Amino acid sequence: MEVILRPTREAAEALAARLIAEQVRAKPDSVLGLATGGTMERVYAELVRLHVEEELDFSLVRTFNLDEYVGLPGDHVCSYRYYMDQHLFRGINIDSRNTHLPNGVAEDLAAECRAYEEAITRCGGIDLQLLGIGKSGHIGFNEPLSALRSRTREKALSPVTMAQNAGYFSQYGPMPQRGLTMGVGTILDARDILLLVTGEAKADVLARAVEGPVTSMISASALQLHAHCRVIVDEAAATQLSEQEYYRWIFDHEPEWEPYR
Ligand code: GLP
Repeated sequence: MEVILRPTREAAEALAARLIAEQVRAKPDSVLGLATGGTMERVYAELVRLHVEEELDFSLVRTFNLDEYVGLPGDHVCSYRYYMDQHLFRGINIDSRNTHLPNGVAEDLAAECRAYEEAITRCGGIDLQLLGIGKSGHIGFNEPLSALRSRTREKALSPVTMAQNAGYFSQYGPMPQRGLTMGVGTILDARDILLLVTGEAKADVLARAVEGPVTSMISASALQLHAHCRVIVDEAAATQLSEQEYYRWIFDHEPEWEPYR
């Protein structure tokens, strides 16, 4: 893992957006794995800006999102499909047929999950997977005890996640208690991974994911097994990391890290 410590949330978000943009420029038909949540909102705003002002071209890009709530159709304001349309897809020149999220209202959810895995494989696998982390340590909706080799499937949301995301549903009816999510194994198959973590509220879980043991109790700790995982964090999220000095030192002294500066 490479822990890249940026001084502010804005700097961390801007770096994440720049690395995604570089991926798209280097391989215009990239397959991107995408995430939702408050952490990603300004990353997507920056990608929209790069499209509008710097002609970043998404016309050939394919996307697969990590997860979706069970029971929410794509036009529900709390669905992740709606989130993606609002924050990213409608602001860039992506072909909507190339954007994929699990269908949370599919009649046969198990078949939907199998088809999702097949669709990722048909596209050649994910080039770059963007991730956030939940307070439960989840990536996607891989709640505690998710098998480290799990694939896309239906998953019950943990009480921690229910509490964390309940605010989004306050005016829109009850929050679903289940989600469809890529598995930890699906995520680990991505060729490159970018985990973006900002803010003090994530400091404890970030430290457990990055410096703690690999455990299915903290799904994000499985990223330690990945050969190309970059973890972009701001100072607020880094406060519980025991090796902060080392991460700052390596950032300043490692010539290979030049592209992140
Ligand atoms: C949801 C998503 C996760 C995301 C998490 C963090 O639970 N399923 O993929 O990482 O939220 O959200 P936030 O960025 O709002 O803290």
